[in-house]
Amino acid sequence: MIDIHCHILPDLDDGPREWQESLDMCEMALRDGIHTIVATPHIKPGVYEPEKKLILSRIKELNIRIEKTNWVTGPTGSVPLTILPGAEVHLQPDIISKIDDVAINPSTGPIRYFCLELPDYFLFPMVKELIQELRSKNIVPILTHPERNLTIMRNKKILFEFIKAGVLSQVTAMSITGEFNREIQKITKKMITSDLVHIIASDAHSRDGRPPILSRAVEETAKIIGIDRAEKMVRDIPQAVIEGKKL
Ligand SMILES: [Fe+2]
Repeated sequence: MIDIHCHILPDLDDGPREWQESLDMCEMALRDGIHTIVATPHIKPGVYEPEKKLILSRIKELNIRIEKTNWVTGPTGSVPLTILPGAEVHLQPDIISKIDDVAINPSTGPIRYFCLELPDYFLFPMVKELIQELRSKNIVPILTHPERNLTIMRNKKILFEFIKAGVLSQVTAMSITGEFNREIQKITKKMITSDLVHIIASDAHSRDGRPPILSRAVEETAKIIGIDRAEKMVRDIPQAVIEGKKL
């Protein structure tokens, strides 16, 4: 499985504080069946503003630390877990000028994907226009956890309109399993049955409270739409995203 939204890097945002917690999270992910994690620290003006250089150096170091562990090894003898660069970008007016800093693997394919976090309250026409402008430049926002956004929770048609405008929709694994609360679980399952979800990601922040586990959510999703479609949400679609392929 591929986890395209995970706060795995230490001391950059509200994710893990220390290297050891990052490594513990990586080991949990690996044992859950995850082979690739996109590191997506928050980028939110005035709150979290890590520079691309710093994000890349943390990723490099984490990959080196993973290689030095004695976890289960793959056929090549190296630990089969890779951390890739990304970011979770809070909606901001100059987002297009920052795409080079936030895109997931920006140079590997024709499409550049990035994780977009909406504020709880936003003006629908402005966001829709922004999405259309991004799409005209072959940039595809992946809308993170719409099931936990207050505006969308109140009016799910907005999510349908955003998908029509060209976003991908990513729900959080713990929303599906009911680990936030029953209401969020109900909304998430309704989105899944209504074809309003493309990707499941962990949005992990910690070892204990919000761990990088996808398998339980895939099992729950499979009960709703079948195992093939559920697995595509953690395998084929995230694979296309990290390769920059058109979906
Ligand atoms: Fe996140």
